[in-house]
Amino acid sequence: MTILRSDNEPNFLKIASWETPATKYPLSKRGRVRLKRKPYRRGFYNMEGVRGYDYFTVKKPIPITSLIVDGETWMVDDPLHWYGMQDLAKAARGRVLVAGLGLGLVIHGLEENEAVTAIDVVEIDEDVIDLITPLIKMKKTRIINDDFWRYLYETEETYDTFILDIWVYDETGTTKAGYSMLSALGSVSTRFPSAKIYIWGIRDPKWNPAVTKAPCYIETERRIAELLEAEA
Ligand SMILES: C[S@@+](CC[C@H](N)C(=O)[O-])C[C@H]1O[C@@H](n2cnc3c(N)ncnc32)[C@H](O)[C@@H]1O
Repeated sequence: MTILRSDNEPNFLKIASWETPATKYPLSKRGRVRLKRKPYRRGFYNMEGVRGYDYFTVKKPIPITSLIVDGETWMVDDPLHWYGMQDLAKAARGRVLVAGLGLGLVIHGLEENEAVTAIDVVEIDEDVIDLITPLIKMKKTRIINDDFWRYLYETEETYDTFILDIWVYDETGTTKAGYSMLSALGSVSTRFPSAKIYIWGIRDPKWNPAVTKAPCYIETERRIAELLEAEA
């Protein structure tokens, strides 16, 4: 019998135990925003090509901390997001602008990176700022309460690196910010042509250096989308 194999074999990252700086955040609340901790149970979870992995596997439950805004999850510290954010932080240089504070995961890595001289974080939600800022060690970081799209055009600061992660999705997968990632890329590169721009969520190492493999399920997802469209 011949077993046919895909030419894009899945890579699995085994997670035996799990802890990030967010594991130690107290489960506090501020206005519409709160922190929650719940386990990811035994199973496998998407890794989206980050560090060359398609999936991470969990044998025994691991604790995952979430940022909840108005009852919706805006960020989690699971292996996908923690490693992804740390890889973007490692790639950053000079004066860095981060769009979206979330759990502040990327800030931990940027503070450690000696090639980074200053970190400006633009966050639209005051409750997120009040809840998360006291939980992070900040030596080079300044938090700016503003809409990133407004700040982008009004600021007179200069930046060497942008890390964009302001995507908050509704249940249809549409970004609530109303911007596609590629239009974001256009807007930032027009305004700051010589800056490096990293965009979380893009599956291309040029724009998202955390991703080093096309996950095996991309092709399946594409074909399912085609089938659904053909049936509609
Ligand atoms: C996915 S979280 C960011 C996670 C973050 N990268 C981390 O390391 O934890 C998205 C954040 O972007 C913020 N946000 C959404 N739209 C924004 C905008 N237009 N300007 C600034 N911040 C925005 C949200 O309030 C939320 O805190």
